[in-house]
Amino acid sequence: MHDDTREITEIILAAGEKARRETKDEPDPVITRTVEWPLTCTVGPGLEGAIACESRIGYVNGAKGWLIYRGYDIFDLCANSTYEEVSYLLMYGVLPSAPQLAAYKKRLIGYRMLNKTLRLLMGFEVETMNAMSALRLGTNLMRQEFTVADQEEGKPGTGDAIGSDEDSIPMETAPRGEKKAIYEFNRPVIAEKEPGGMQSHDPSGLEACFHILSGVATITAAIGRVRQNRMPVEPDPELSHAANLLYMLSGRKPSPLEERIMDVALILHADHGMNASTFATMVVASTLSDIYLSVGAGIAALHGPLHGGANEEVIRTLMAIGDAKRVSAVLDEVLARKGRIPGFGHRVYKAYDPRARILGPLAQFLVEQKRRDKKPLFDIARELEREMTARLGAEKKIFPNVDFFSGIVYSCLDIAPDMFTTMFAVSRTAGWTARVMEYLQHNRIFRPRAMYIGEFNNTYVPLADRAG
Ligand code: CMC
Repeated sequence: MHDDTREITEIILAAGEKARRETKDEPDPVITRTVEWPLTCTVGPGLEGAIACESRIGYVNGAKGWLIYRGYDIFDLCANSTYEEVSYLLMYGVLPSAPQLAAYKKRLIGYRMLNKTLRLLMGFEVETMNAMSALRLGTNLMRQEFTVADQEEGKPGTGDAIGSDEDSIPMETAPRGEKKAIYEFNRPVIAEKEPGGMQSHDPSGLEACFHILSGVATITAAIGRVRQNRMPVEPDPELSHAANLLYMLSGRKPSPLEERIMDVALILHADHGMNASTFATMVVASTLSDIYLSVGAGIAALHGPLHGGANEEVIRTLMAIGDAKRVSAVLDEVLARKGRIPGFGHRVYKAYDPRARILGPLAQFLVEQKRRDKKPLFDIARELEREMTARLGAEKKIFPNVDFFSGIVYSCLDIAPDMFTTMFAVSRTAGWTARVMEYLQHNRIFRPRAMYIGEFNNTYVPLADRAG
């Protein structure tokens, strides 16, 4: 499938071999089973160990370092598949046939152009806003492009006059972003009924998921462009999801190698169990809110430095260290104050994260073969990996996670650090939307409890009588 980037396939296959070899002595996991509710399980702080639902979408095994999507090993998928195929697999549970894949790709391409959303988004100061904040806003604005939910009877219509009081905020000032750019793209072509069993206006909400899957890439690229003081680039329907994303970001058609690396990064980040952003997305969806607002919640959760935001933190940490010789001293200082090194540790993995097993060698290949200018950064990363693993690997089972090498890979693709987490989000929309669609088939609103450990029987004291 990937003949022109055979060396990448070989790197991934070798990483898979190494992973299997190094974890072969770990005990095989108890194979998963259907849950009988109510379930008894041991729950730690941060819901560690809690089982929130059943799922057939993906499996993470911390001891073996396994990551499986719908029964397929992540190493196999990265070696052989594409993001389009993997996102189809996550949503539908099976690999598509050739006509199904063609129809699915066409459908995604039909949603790449987001005229109205971009026009609305550029009314805000995207150039100075945090990129994840802008992406969340953009995703929420996408509702207006596609949904009619807000125009139901009883809700204000678009044509209603807006009255003003004397103290109202004046609205005549033009939104500042409009000064920079006027967006006049063509309308998206939404395909009619096609082979593959999917229909254009599927009431199940699938169409909105595909709209998001495609649209989040377009919004991310537009944000990236505006932050470089450049105009957004119109999507190219001839390109794959990965190639089009890079193209919309840089304005240059990527090489097959760049496209393939981006595709692998997209596949690797597409799903990962009940991580914080997936759970946040599902919690919002379980209220029967809508998929746009739900994914907006996922983006907000992903932004945090303990989650997806770590990839940006990693590159900034490597730059701050500045020299591989300083790694040891920096670690002494950070670990002495019980600080965290971004890109290490994981709630589930107590072995080497399989995603880092792929991204590490890919980063190495890129810096050695293509981007010698990034080699100093990579050398610091390798030294940090070596020292951290030596100090905390055996004792605390702390190893590099997905975010450790992804930033170097993105840097080699000329993606700016402040866009790294948005790249993660572009990919994770596949997992977020697939898991929401699965959960909604047997929806029950998420509603855990907190153990109240506060006071009882306090007597209300009127404000005037309170001390101080
Ligand atoms: N650097 C140094 N020590 C660490 C780190 C780290 N990155 N991660 C965990 N530890 C230590 C922690 O101090 C604790 O030590 P002790 O038992 O002595 O108190 C022990 O390991 C267990 O940590 P924890 O906080 O109970 O672990 P957790 O499961 O609650 O948190 C984590 C997991 C990923 C939030 C955490 O490892 C961390 O903060 N890592 C750095 C941020 C990061 O890289 N996040 C990306 C995670 S993977 C991709 C994603 O989800 O986006």
